[in-house]
Amino acid sequence: MGNDTVTIIDNATGKRMELPVFKGTCGPSVIDVRNLYREMGYFTYDPGYLSTGSCDSKITFIDGENGTLLYRGYPIEQLAKHSTYPEVCYLLLYRKLPTKAELEKFNESIKKHSLLDEAMRVFYRGFRHDAHAMAIMVAGVGALASFYPEALNVHDRNDRETSAHRLIAKMPTLAAWSYKYSIGQPFTYPRNDLDFTANFLSMMFGIPTEEYQANETFVKAMDLILILHADHEQNASTSTVRLTGSSEASPFAALSAGIGTLWGPAHGGANEVVVHMLEEMISSGKNLKHYINRAKDKNDRFRLMGFGHRVYKNYDPRAKIIRQICHQLLKEIGSDTENQQLFDTAMALERVALEDEYFIERKLYPNVDFYSGIIFRAMGIPLNMFTVIFALARTVGWLAHWMEMMADPDARISRPRQLYTGPDLQKYVPIEKR
Ligand code: ACO
Repeated sequence: MGNDTVTIIDNATGKRMELPVFKGTCGPSVIDVRNLYREMGYFTYDPGYLSTGSCDSKITFIDGENGTLLYRGYPIEQLAKHSTYPEVCYLLLYRKLPTKAELEKFNESIKKHSLLDEAMRVFYRGFRHDAHAMAIMVAGVGALASFYPEALNVHDRNDRETSAHRLIAKMPTLAAWSYKYSIGQPFTYPRNDLDFTANFLSMMFGIPTEEYQANETFVKAMDLILILHADHEQNASTSTVRLTGSSEASPFAALSAGIGTLWGPAHGGANEVVVHMLEEMISSGKNLKHYINRAKDKNDRFRLMGFGHRVYKNYDPRAKIIRQICHQLLKEIGSDTENQQLFDTAMALERVALEDEYFIERKLYPNVDFYSGIIFRAMGIPLNMFTVIFALARTVGWLAHWMEMMADPDARISRPRQLYTGPDLQKYVPIEKR
């Protein structure tokens, strides 16, 4: 990692400390502050982790200034063009692209684990018919821990691998069943004659009374979306999975926590909110400038959803790819007026925002969520399933990070510190004297 240092001097006491600097393969170096408190009596202060590296990782690299995203060193553009989602899963989990035989073995293992325990059918019945699919996912993934107590053997490499395969395999079934439940249709079982993505669409849209034939264009577009969402280094949900997993909790519990974090509109929930926002823009008949002005107004909580990113300060490379798929898909399937209108409004909004000083100055570009919702809509996927599909795709990224952390002999429970600004020591006053 290199042996550069940074010196800090406490101006109050004159005390100095040399802090080691670690260089990664690419990206900014980090200052190792682990001994700072012990030697200098200070914590670092970084709410929202604007400048904090929480771990070292070999999985994904993002260069936000240049709009670069690499999975295990492979650019997202190349993977989007040549790969498939199961192959990307293998790459993220096992650090290399698989041979044909390795991929076949991996696919077989995933197919072997795709069924849910039949008791899960009863579990679904406990939800209100209109429960948000993400609420069912948070609960469903957590509930799976009860069926696999061996998953608690988090220090056993084989048990970790089995849990990872189970989660990747069962997530599409869980996701499709939450949709089926919400529309009152029978649960559809996985089909081993289909590939991962076609199987997911079959469970979403198939019914027992008819043979389901997945639309090839949809399968391709969905597979690409899964690839684009598979990992994104230490984002909020992945950091949550690492934090939960650091207590040696079951990976099912860790992923359930991650799904809860992804749900928020500032993170994965944005894809759902973007479509609501575009629909409102269309139905209100108001000029797009009206919404741009609202987004700029600090007294208005409205934000342009699908814009901005903590790391990308140039175009989000995933958004570039997804925008193109969206355009192609609508052309190929002959979009209805409503979907075309959504796409046209999104493109117009992008144009207006990217010419506006406020957005230029703050480097606010469309992110991956800006166009994904329009694709989902065109496929007939309901709004409240958008973030669920994001969760399905990100499952492998969460697991790759969890496995990397669990295999790291230096990993410790995550326990941030704080700057306390509450009251000093108080003396208890009995209730009758307050
Ligand atoms: N609309 C209007 N203004 C924005 C937006 C937006 N979408 N995003 C950021 N800004 C402004 C902020 O108000 C702030 O302005 P200021 O410097 O005058 O105070 C500046 O840009 C910097 O924004 P921060 O909120 O500090 O950036 P942060 O890195 O904390 O947040 C986030 C990133 C959460 C993605 C934010 O841009 C946002 O809320 N975007 C909309 C929601 C969204 O699309 N989320 C999906 C993210 S991608 C994903 O999770 C897959």
